Amino acid sequence: MKAKQFYAAAAGAAMALTLAACSGGGAGSSSDDASASTDSSDTAASGETYRVGVAMPTQTSERWIADGEAVQSQLEELGYEVDLQFGNDDIPTQTQQIEQMVTNGADLLIVAAIDGTALASQLEAAAAEGIPVIAYDRLINDTDAVDFYVTFDNYTVGVQQATSLLVGLGILNEDGSEGDATGPFNIELFAGSPDDNNATFFFNGAMDTLQPYIDNGTLVVASGQTDFNTVAITRWLQEKAQERMDNLLTSTYTGDTKVDGVLSPYDGLSRGIITALQNNGYSGTTADGFPIVTGQDAEIASVKLIADDVQFSTIFKDTRKLAAQAVTAAQSILSGEDPEANDTETYDNGVKVVPSYLLESDIIYADNIQELLVDSGYWTEEEVASGVAE
Ligand code: BGC
Repeated sequence: MKAKQFYAAAAGAAMALTLAACSGGGAGSSSDDASASTDSSDTAASGETYRVGVAMPTQTSERWIADGEAVQSQLEELGYEVDLQFGNDDIPTQTQQIEQMVTNGADLLIVAAIDGTALASQLEAAAAEGIPVIAYDRLINDTDAVDFYVTFDNYTVGVQQATSLLVGLGILNEDGSEGDATGPFNIELFAGSPDDNNATFFFNGAMDTLQPYIDNGTLVVASGQTDFNTVAITRWLQEKAQERMDNLLTSTYTGDTKVDGVLSPYDGLSRGIITALQNNGYSGTTADGFPIVTGQDAEIASVKLIADDVQFSTIFKDTRKLAAQAVTAAQSILSGEDPEANDTETYDNGVKVVPSYLLESDIIYADNIQELLVDSGYWTEEEVASGVAE
């Protein structure tokens, strides 16, 4: 049944739609672990099973695998049929997957785009069939055919990344108060993929936070490379970040000039940057003067590096909560209601402002890994110790 027809059916059917708050089941957990409550009353009411197509960008990063599995298991708990696809970071693969979902009779799509501007024609075809679309974590741009957006507060993620860089350098303390260090410190900047709408939000949040310190000379971007397009890493590729950091080290950091900190927007890039630093004579831990490198996603390999005091920080975005929010929105839409939004101003996709639900993120330092990642069941102590998801 298409959502259009379903809206009508839903109006007459009294359906108890409940979704237990997501809990348990860490990032690396299997789909069995996610804990949405079992309630297939919405499908039972109509005697049909609703199909949800879930398009995720890649399996090369843990977070998207965790996102995909969490969304799938939580939808299945509710009795939905789920078609989960990963796009291998390849735009034609993802567009084809979405076309196939439409052909196969999806009632709703949940899409984390590889390129936020490349899906307009597929999603317009979906809209023509009455299939609603939820943009997952990444906004889909330049089309009217996106109904809702679930994400984290992406600007604040950037603020948190920059804040953790300032903490690592000693300019701020973890509690936000002013630290003892006055610099000047040499830093370099990295941004994410230019076709990912989030990348500019992260970079803008970070730069608004760092700019006053650049202006007063506490921070110096020694390469002079501060423009988003110059520092952006297409497709968020670790090897490209390593290559750029290598180039920066050999071109700018010669003689006695050392880099003190690197703004990195994603753990995969951070590990490429750390490898480049290590290949260019930087060693030891941040306590010994290894440069401060930030991150995002709390990937297990980076969490271990943080526990070992090599990477300084990351940003934890609890994918279990994002999945639960997407599933809640899907339930609302499929029952003919407007999903609950907490932001109806920020995310203009070029055609309209997409109503959004934004979640909060946390800065992870070595001293809160236990509380935020282990005690919450996201990673186990053994996974943190080994750096490998079980
Ligand atoms: C996500 C980040 C992730 C990045 C690379 C962004 O769209 O919001 O959490 O680090 O993609 O996968």
